[in-house]
Amino acid sequence: MNKNICFIDGLEGILKYRDVDINELIDLPYDAVSYLLIKGELSEEKELAEYSARLHAERGINREVMDVIRMCNLNIDSMEALLTVVSFISQFDPDLYDNSLEGNMRKAIRLIAVVPTIVAAYYRTANGKEPVPPDPSLAHGANFLYMIKGSKPDPLEAEVMEKDFILSAEHELNASTFSSRVTASTMSDLYSAVVSGLCTLKGPLHGGARSEVMTMIETIGSPENAEKFVLEKIEKREKIMGFGHRVYKTYDPRGTIFKQLSRRLAEAKGDMHWYETAEAIENAVIRELVEKRGKPIYPNIDFYSGVIYKYMEIPPQLATSIFAIGRISGWIAHCFDQYEKKKIIRPRIFMLDEC
Ligand code: CMC
Repeated sequence: MNKNICFIDGLEGILKYRDVDINELIDLPYDAVSYLLIKGELSEEKELAEYSARLHAERGINREVMDVIRMCNLNIDSMEALLTVVSFISQFDPDLYDNSLEGNMRKAIRLIAVVPTIVAAYYRTANGKEPVPPDPSLAHGANFLYMIKGSKPDPLEAEVMEKDFILSAEHELNASTFSSRVTASTMSDLYSAVVSGLCTLKGPLHGGARSEVMTMIETIGSPENAEKFVLEKIEKREKIMGFGHRVYKTYDPRGTIFKQLSRRLAEAKGDMHWYETAEAIENAVIRELVEKRGKPIYPNIDFYSGVIYKYMEIPPQLATSIFAIGRISGWIAHCFDQYEKKKIIRPRIFMLDEC
């Protein structure tokens, strides 16, 4: 097993999961990347087929879970519903209190498999539609789109969704992964650790930035309004969503791939409007913050992913939950590492001055 879950070079813009560069991982199925993260090595063909079959078989939710989804306030963000339901379903898992590697692996597969179904079922219920049961024959991304839209997805959209989950899957000790690790460090169960990750991911400075990017691009409306918007934000000393990163001081490599994917979608749909609006925002930010003020503020993972959702007609309310669907494999990989350490994470207050 490769013990390096993640490597980031924030100056060179390099990202690796288990020592494999993100640019190599991007063409694999999400299941293969998930396997790599939680098992620590790339799978052989037969192992991947078995792993995928187990994941695809665990996608369903029972009637009690559907009842809870229907009881959720239908105006809340899908993240609120997701963390409530993940907490609720833990009681049905026969391995809940089995913290052995085997027990945790079984829980991991159930969690990775079922989270997209919960998100899609809540989304459709909140929009007055009947939930669409998962299709075990479809890949992770295609199945998710199928469950939210109710029809077999366009192949390019399915490919983009699969790649989105891969790009979102892991990012070292980001805030939500840290939360999950802290919970696992107390030897609490894997569901609790995932709920901790969800609670932290939803904040607007972390995964919540994606939906704010979508709202921002809509508000700006067209490329010619971008510069005025950016200058006003800078004047008011407000953050521009989807830009900047604690670790990357250059272009986020995930942002580069998302930008290429959003361009492909724009071209395929024959509608460059949202892509060009986003690019005008990027150009204004780089000119004003990077070139004139010397601040390393480039698009992060959340900027062009917001553009992709506009083209795929995915509403802002789903944006953070989609991040969670991808990131769950990363949280689990870190929890497994933490369980092995059997040591509680208990920093001292003065350490927060470093954060
Ligand atoms: N727009 C304008 N200025 C910015 C931005 C931005 N998005 N991000 C950083 N800056 C400026 C900031 O004003 C500060 O300037 P000064 O030194 O003059 O006070 C400087 O850059 C350093 O900013 P910081 O807030 O101290 O940096 P940080 O490392 O604490 O924060 C961040 C990183 C991602 C929280 C921040 O860049 C931000 O709030 N970005 C917008 C929200 C966002 O897109 N979040 C998603 C992050 S990536 C995915 C994830 O981790 O979930």
